[in-house]
Amino acid sequence: MTLTPDAPLLFFDSGVGGLSVLGPTLKLLPNAPIVYAADSAGYPYGKRSEAEIASRVPALLGRLVERFHPRLAVIACNTASTIALEHVRSALDLPVVGTVPAIKPAAEMSRTRVIGVLGTQATVRQPYVDELAARFAADCTIIRHGSPELVELAEAKLGGDIIDFDAVRAAAQPLFDAPDGDRIDTIVLACTHFPLLDDELTAAFPGITYIDGGPGIARRIAYLTRDQAWPRETQPGLMLFTSPVRHPSLATLTGYGIGEVKTL
Ligand code: DGL
Repeated sequence: MTLTPDAPLLFFDSGVGGLSVLGPTLKLLPNAPIVYAADSAGYPYGKRSEAEIASRVPALLGRLVERFHPRLAVIACNTASTIALEHVRSALDLPVVGTVPAIKPAAEMSRTRVIGVLGTQATVRQPYVDELAARFAADCTIIRHGSPELVELAEAKLGGDIIDFDAVRAAAQPLFDAPDGDRIDTIVLACTHFPLLDDELTAAFPGITYIDGGPGIARRIAYLTRDQAWPRETQPGLMLFTSPVRHPSLATLTGYGIGEVKTL
């Protein structure tokens, strides 16, 4: 099949988290047409069961692919990727890029060899995380914490609310209260919502290095589409929600190239 220059990149998350992957992608591919789908009807994924995610995500992505004919789909969500990536890949006939916890680069950076993994409750219990830890960080102590509060705080921030620093600190504090937690020097932001709180997290825990997958995923998308044609000019992106919700502020979304917001 020949791709036309206006074939979009499809981004998918439960909410606004995928913007932390879209941002670095647009730095590399500024003219890429974007469709960003937020499954607000299924939000928050972190509180759902594996079975719910495994049936919901491939079905929804299948519908979106039929409707928008993207050149590539990005599951910009660690919860959906760690549970359903393989299933989505086998169900769809296009390249699918997932988002998995950046444990490998964290292990390359940590000096204390104690790494925090901050994700959703569903992500931090996945065997996929055990496999990444065993493969890339076997000599590190990995401390995990699932925080639905941080997901909510990121949604609120993008909705235009002023964020309470103490609430951000309290949400991540259990990592440091765990045995050996006082030796953490590197934290993997294993939920795409969390880099949206980078400033707040850095202020709450100075001296910690935060690592997220966004820039690496952006490079992967650019690599996979390296021989493809793009529009000559920047296109306003489309953001879709699966239910009527309070949208993130349009001023924020413009910074991510989004020009239109709709309910699917
Ligand atoms: N942004 C998502 C992730 O990366 C999920 C947040 C949620 O819906 O709980 O895991």
